[in-house]
Amino acid sequence: MAKRQMKLGMFMRAPGHHIAAWRLPEAPRAAGSSLAHNVEVAQLAERGLFDMVFWADTAGVWAGDKDELSRLCRVAWIEPFTLLAAFAAVTKHIGLVCTQSTTYDEPFHIARRFASLDAMSGGRAGWNLVTSAQAAEALNFSREAHMDKSDRYRRAREFAHVVLGLWRSWDDDAFVEDKAEGLFFEPSKLHELNHVGEFFKVRGPLNVPRSPQGHPVMVQAGASDDGRNLAAETAEVIFAATPTIELGRAFYKDVKSRVAQFGRHPDHVKIMPGVLAFVGRTDAEARAKHDRLQSLIHPQVGVRQLSNYIAYDLSKFPVDGPLPPIPKTAVSNSRVDLLVEMARRDNLTIRQLYEKIAGGRGHFTLIGSPQSVADTLQEWFETGAADGFNYLPPTAPGSLQDFIDLVIPELQKRGLFRTAYEGTTLRENLGLPIPPDNSSRTTSSGTEVRAAGFTST
Ligand SMILES: Cc1cc2nc3c(=O)[nH]c(=O)nc-3n(C[C@H](O)[C@H](O)[C@H](O)COP(=O)(O)O)c2cc1C
Repeated sequence: MAKRQMKLGMFMRAPGHHIAAWRLPEAPRAAGSSLAHNVEVAQLAERGLFDMVFWADTAGVWAGDKDELSRLCRVAWIEPFTLLAAFAAVTKHIGLVCTQSTTYDEPFHIARRFASLDAMSGGRAGWNLVTSAQAAEALNFSREAHMDKSDRYRRAREFAHVVLGLWRSWDDDAFVEDKAEGLFFEPSKLHELNHVGEFFKVRGPLNVPRSPQGHPVMVQAGASDDGRNLAAETAEVIFAATPTIELGRAFYKDVKSRVAQFGRHPDHVKIMPGVLAFVGRTDAEARAKHDRLQSLIHPQVGVRQLSNYIAYDLSKFPVDGPLPPIPKTAVSNSRVDLLVEMARRDNLTIRQLYEKIAGGRGHFTLIGSPQSVADTLQEWFETGAADGFNYLPPTAPGSLQDFIDLVIPELQKRGLFRTAYEGTTLRENLGLPIPPDNSSRTTSSGTEVRAAGFTST
């Protein structure tokens, strides 16, 4: 049997994940809104044989006063779905994944957009289903307040059900295009959804056919109990944010067992924790790259990022004082709880805490030589903490180039990563099965076969 190999995503934020990356003299100007910069990074990731690029998103600018915001680079960027459409034309192999939130959008729109991207890219699309974490988004969508967390997750579950249903509107062989007979499609191979639920009423069918990989890969990120259940039920890739190997193993074990409880095969869900890595030819060189960026964090930016992250304004507290008590809010989430616990346990000041999240925002962070980074990734991969990783470059293209030049060859030498793409679709490269179309939903015993593990509501 072929050796199990790790999957790699490249999680991009221009010009890199570190909050001060844009201040480096070599950082490209206006990177977030430059097509050229984003294409350069996506093509570089493809040269590195990454399974997929992943662009996260929020529909709005962080809350905060203008003076504070004026020091941030993450206030204006190209909407990621639009970017992925451009990538489809200038890449051949790499998977194209971005966030589109279920909180303030409609399932028909999302099903249609991603199915179109899947068709355009020959089966390389993936949808990162999230519930909007930013309360400020509500104000951009004709609402006074952010939707309550449990409502967001109930809506997300129904949303996923509708999208998956719409993606099965057409059987694979529906379009006969019989020119002699004048028959474009076979009527029995078209299926209406006729969904009526708590949040949505959607008749369907979708006006986009299935792609070579059946439908886009379902990706998810969310770690609370509700988030894990939704992922176990519907996701094929999970972007986890687990800052230590112990938490990584616990998350992996828990989610894989939930996947089994939903009657799905645990191998059909790839758990890929985020990892921020500073790599140098030596540990000292990597440390110098890290320290250089840390020294560029403006305190106002550090405090604003932390405040935003924990949904509590820390700007009135002394930056070198302890973290004040943080009230639980509707926006509270699993990663925030972990961070607050860490600050209490290690007696961290506000400054020390913001320095910890300035790069990886709670994802696990590595600083070291290619061998030491590969050792850690291997340990996670081989001891039940990960099926692969979602790599967060602190700077781009710089850190991504380092990872490709230094870490990937080391992983390949150890037989842990591919030396060529296995297939042409994202599913083939990830080793995921093609979900059945509607023609195979009824087995000989009359029971329904679920697509991508979804159980009807
Ligand atoms: C790795 C990761 C990536 C996420 N990416 C996004 C994103 O791009 N946009 C967004 O609005 N929310 C994003 N989220 C937020 C989640 O969808 C969710 O709202 C949040 O994590 C709170 O839910 P939880 O407590 O279940 O984790 C992300 C969460 C995680 C863990």
